[in-house]
Amino acid sequence: MAIVAPSLLSANYLNLEADCKMLNESEADWYHLDVMDGRFVPNISFGPMLIEFFRKATTKVCDVHLMIEEPGNYAEQFKNAGADNLSVHIEACPHLHRNIQQIKALGMKAGVAVNPHTPVSSLSDILHDIDLVCLMSVNPGFGGQKFIPYTLEKIKQLRKMITERGLDIHIEIDGGVTLENAPAIIAAGADVLVAGNTVFKAADQKAMISQLKKL
Ligand code: DX5
Ligand code: ZN
Repeated sequence: MAIVAPSLLSANYLNLEADCKMLNESEADWYHLDVMDGRFVPNISFGPMLIEFFRKATTKVCDVHLMIEEPGNYAEQFKNAGADNLSVHIEACPHLHRNIQQIKALGMKAGVAVNPHTPVSSLSDILHDIDLVCLMSVNPGFGGQKFIPYTLEKIKQLRKMITERGLDIHIEIDGGVTLENAPAIIAAGADVLVAGNTVFKAADQKAMISQLKKL
């Protein structure tokens, strides 16, 4: 059974309380929280202040995906805001190892996110230090984009690397996940499904989350 992590980027910001209540009552496992700085990605979303509110609204895992430059400058703020998992982009981190050590020293699970063009082999020398890989299946920056099919190949390669080394690391797929492509994503070896539009644009959001859990 996969971990289901609805992305709040697609929530209704005029009534976040209702969306949090729906998620809390649902079978969702994690809140996926997308932070964008308008530099690393061509969009701006929200920062630690809003995450503090989400933290108060739920006991579920707060899975924070930083799409920002120089994430090391903000790791402590996100810890204080209540992040449980903190993922940084490999493309934004020339000193990735230092960033990962910092995240772990602050007491959070450490994740590395990779853009569609970044080979999973580039994770080879950091894999044993991390808890989570966030494989982007769209170009980061926006919800509601189409899943890039080559991601399935990357999931298989990454799962093989993890198994061969006897590691315990989540493979999270982020972008364009639907009820239709999720079975292939899970079969390829992923265990965390991020879903923004698929959940929040559904007529029955809780039922959609249940369906994703049942796959
Ligand atoms: C994209 C974000 C995703 C996004 C996913 O940059 O990282 O988490 O919200 O949204 P959907 O599921 O709609 O593609
Ligand atoms: Zn994300």
